[in-house]
Amino acid sequence: MAAAHRVAAIAVSGSPGRRDVLQNLAAVTGCCNTGGMERQEVPGASGLLSEVAAAEAELRAAADRDRGGDGAGVAAGDELAAYFDEVVGADQKIEPRDWMPEAYRKGLVRQIAQHAHSEIIGMQPEGNWLSRAPSLARKAILLAKVQDEAGHGLYLYAAAETLGVSRAELFDKLLSGRQKYSSIFNYPTLTWADVGAIGWLVDGAAIVNQVPLCRCSYGPYARAMIRICKEESFHQRQGFDLLYTLARGTDEQRAMAQDAVDRWWYPSLAMFGPPDAESTHSTQSMAWKIKRFSNDELRQKFVDMTAQQAEVLGLNLPDEALGYDQPSGHWRYTQPDFGELMRVISGDGPCNRQRIEHRRRAHDDGAWVRDSAAAYAAKQRTRKAAA
Ligand code: 3HC
Repeated sequence: MAAAHRVAAIAVSGSPGRRDVLQNLAAVTGCCNTGGMERQEVPGASGLLSEVAAAEAELRAAADRDRGGDGAGVAAGDELAAYFDEVVGADQKIEPRDWMPEAYRKGLVRQIAQHAHSEIIGMQPEGNWLSRAPSLARKAILLAKVQDEAGHGLYLYAAAETLGVSRAELFDKLLSGRQKYSSIFNYPTLTWADVGAIGWLVDGAAIVNQVPLCRCSYGPYARAMIRICKEESFHQRQGFDLLYTLARGTDEQRAMAQDAVDRWWYPSLAMFGPPDAESTHSTQSMAWKIKRFSNDELRQKFVDMTAQQAEVLGLNLPDEALGYDQPSGHWRYTQPDFGELMRVISGDGPCNRQRIEHRRRAHDDGAWVRDSAAAYAAKQRTRKAAA
């Protein structure tokens, strides 16, 4: 048998049965914003949406609760730090007006900017297929999805701006290589099935990573993530639906779907970042409740969810070691090549140069739009002042 093998074959004993997975989800899919959109459900997806809804309710409750003042009465130094710790400890939100440790601010700018850049660069691999989508409906769906990514980038740049950095500064750091974007977008989209694999696996990994960020301690980031996660869930479903269709098509279509899954599986696992022991920021970031789970915890959660979805798709995940481990309730899997992750992060992935060159060109081409918008805003200000 080829390196890839049927998950179903190893899943028969002990793994949660497909029927159970689907039945358990039936009760909650009705309140999911994409419920009923597809002809099949995506195991695990609705649970994530319920988590987003719970985080949204928590955010509203936090806004309604009395934090005991906004820190304005707190004198300085240690008292400010104690107040900050208290707010974070009580699962309240830190807002832009609040005092915060400089390292907290810098860490947030680093993460939010990297996240925003990922959304914007992430438009390229799929944008590549907009003009070659196989039907009008698929084209409209893909167009909507790529536009959503642009919107996500904008919410996130706006969240970063509340921390005292300008958008121009962030663009400059991206284009000069001083800020990163996700490794995953440095891989090429070779066939139409890659659009499905990105939706299913890349957006699937993104949503597993990002749902906990809806409970991040920094208010503007948490609020942006609520909306982003709701849209990401639609993205994942469209990828699942696309692959589901191909997997039930001709032999060639099925082979194309399988090939795409084979190529995107390990890069998707690597998206979660280095293993915990090598993660620079996780410990501090979790102490400040920016991150809620470690890289390895989220990677495992993604595997657990995706292995079951692969069964429903009838496609193989390319991992001979994959199997359900009854005692732990988790799936065993082979780790991605973290050496490759580091090479891609440091600029040596298959498409790094192409992605940045394309972004730079788009930025230069858009200069007249930015100049016009600035001139219009200045004219409005002058008129208002004169009135
Ligand atoms: N790609 C690029 N860089 C990565 C990376 C990846 N997959 N994983 C880790 N890194 C970088 C980190 O940024 C850090 O570099 P730095 O110190 O120069 O900033 C270094 O590797 C060490 O990693 P850490 O584990 O210490 O970093 P974090 O604690 O920040 O964890 C993370 C990394 C899990 C990506 C976290 O930053 C995070 O959750 N970010 C928010 C979500 C995000 O940015 N997702 C990107 C994908 S967005 C997307 O996919 C769009 C969707 O539409 C598909």
